Amino acid sequence: MKTIFSGIQPSGTLTLGNYIGAMKQFVELQHDYHCYFCIVDQHAITMPQDRLALRKNIRSLAALYLAVGIDPNKSTLFIQSEVPAHAQAGWMLQCVSYIGELERMTQYKDKSKGKEAVSSGLLTYPPLMAADILLYKTDLVPVGEDQKQHLELTRDLAERFNRKYNDIFTIPEVRIPKVGARIMSLAEPNKKMSKSDENQKAFISLLDDPKQIEKKIKSAVTDSDGLVKFDKENKPGVSNLLSIYSILSHESIESIEAKYEGKGYGEFKAELAQVVVQALKPIQDKYHELMESEELDRILDNGAEKANKDALKMLKKMENAMGLGRKKR
Ligand code: TYM
Repeated sequence: MKTIFSGIQPSGTLTLGNYIGAMKQFVELQHDYHCYFCIVDQHAITMPQDRLALRKNIRSLAALYLAVGIDPNKSTLFIQSEVPAHAQAGWMLQCVSYIGELERMTQYKDKSKGKEAVSSGLLTYPPLMAADILLYKTDLVPVGEDQKQHLELTRDLAERFNRKYNDIFTIPEVRIPKVGARIMSLAEPNKKMSKSDENQKAFISLLDDPKQIEKKIKSAVTDSDGLVKFDKENKPGVSNLLSIYSILSHESIESIEAKYEGKGYGEFKAELAQVVVQALKPIQDKYHELMESEELDRILDNGAEKANKDALKMLKKMENAMGLGRKKR
């Protein structure tokens, strides 16, 4: 059975973008693959975090993974910092990365733009991500479109390591969903929807209540021609709402366009809000139930134990390949 690895940062409450671009794929894929899903808290600290908020977000993300349908009997769910091999392998991969290629990463450029003090962790974020993936002999990495560049670098680093030291890494493939790979901000539809956006109206959180969802969708930026038509270039706002509608309702874009022909945005938005509310309700119910239970800690303990065992095998191979420490007896 082939292996999947993916991770999400606990840097805020997850958005509809994270769900559609990433988590929804995870749930569908877990039946056919051997899966590892990670809460990448060490990646989160590349940007300033409040310690109490981070702790809360880690727990909340674990509950959300389960609430959307990750089955801990099928998939390994764990916290990155509880598996030290990630940071250790990340260091080794930093030593095979070039500063120039790290500086070319668009996420680094976006997050450091205009800032005077940028943490070096932000620059060395991608080799840590490569370590996450390569430690588990991952074949496939399901992510949203924004992570594609990091995946290309991961493949480059793996190939470079294999060539230079020893052929130990599997070269992973990226898997990006056909629809919904890039859900856009509701306020600025040319920008991706992000959980760290300062404008609360720009994103729908998976934990928003029905009133918030209705309000945010009602105020979503569209255009003035009043046509519910998919045209990414000229109608980015409406096209984004159509993608969300289609994915969550399982209706095709064409049939939604036909349904709202001759009707205005008001009706389309009101019904879209109900589609989102209905899609999120079972996730939210399960989430609240899990946050109250002790099951969460048991699942994370088991996940860390399994991930530590598996990651250590590859870590030893990496150390041997590079000549670190003493020869293993
Ligand atoms: P993060 O935490 O920013 O996002 C988690 C996942 O959600 C996807 N995503 C989106 N998809 C569609 N539309 C959007 N607006 C949107 N916003 C986010 C992301 O593409 C991602 O799949 N570097 C990663 C975390 C990471 C990782 C890994 C991923 C660390 N190690 C190893 C895969 C494998 C990140 O910051 O994702």
